[in-house]
Amino acid sequence: MKRPLQIAVDGPAGSGKGTAASMLGKVLKLPVLDTGLLYRFVAWRAMESRVDLNNTDAFLSFVSLALKTMSWRTEGVFFDGKDCTSLLRGEDVGAVASKVASMPAVREALLQMQQTLAIQGCVMDGRDIGTVVLPEAQVKFFLTASLRERGRRRWLQLTPLAQRKQSLEQMIKEVALRDQRDSERTLAPLKQAEDAIVIDSTTLRQDEVVDRMLRVLKRRDLIELDEYR
Ligand code: CDP
Repeated sequence: MKRPLQIAVDGPAGSGKGTAASMLGKVLKLPVLDTGLLYRFVAWRAMESRVDLNNTDAFLSFVSLALKTMSWRTEGVFFDGKDCTSLLRGEDVGAVASKVASMPAVREALLQMQQTLAIQGCVMDGRDIGTVVLPEAQVKFFLTASLRERGRRRWLQLTPLAQRKQSLEQMIKEVALRDQRDSERTLAPLKQAEDAIVIDSTTLRQDEVVDRMLRVLKRRDLIELDEYR
């Protein structure tokens, strides 16, 4: 029997991996799982509850309790039965997410959750999907773009009110800082898998990125391209 199709999409902030993963999942009718939301959820709960990230033991019991109150699916993250995804998207939550993501025990707690949901087949996006979470994925993409373009995209995603509070240059600095933290951590750093296909999206539209992905899948005989035209 054929193994359900698993597609890993990794890359730094603003590389367009989330949009590409979600468009690809829609076209292929596969669940799309955004793993960044899990780290963002843990960060958001920690911020709301003002727990001390430096008190490792207390923080870990907090994380395991927080995970019991949530559910994670294609539509996003639900907390106490309510969709809280939009509350997780800000760059402030992203910055704390990148801190909690460098804690080995947090990664461990989230790993199994990700692997269990992926069994049914999926497009999964994150930082370590091709390297750690789904090393057996049939296809791995690594999306990238210039720092300036990624900062610009993230800045445009913010509401006009948030944009007034933060300049484009500040946003580029924040994205660079998060890149550095994500790439330099010892456990599951942001890095492309050896067998990943790199797509630089600096000058590409989202539909062109997805088109390239579909061609790769076709070349590997994983899909019939004509079905998706
Ligand atoms: O959307 P964006 O690329 O800004 O970030 P995200 O994918 O939502 O992830 C937020 C943070 O969570 C990242 O900066 C990483 O530190 C962490 N993360 C991770 O370590 N591993 C993953 N598989 C996904 C996210």
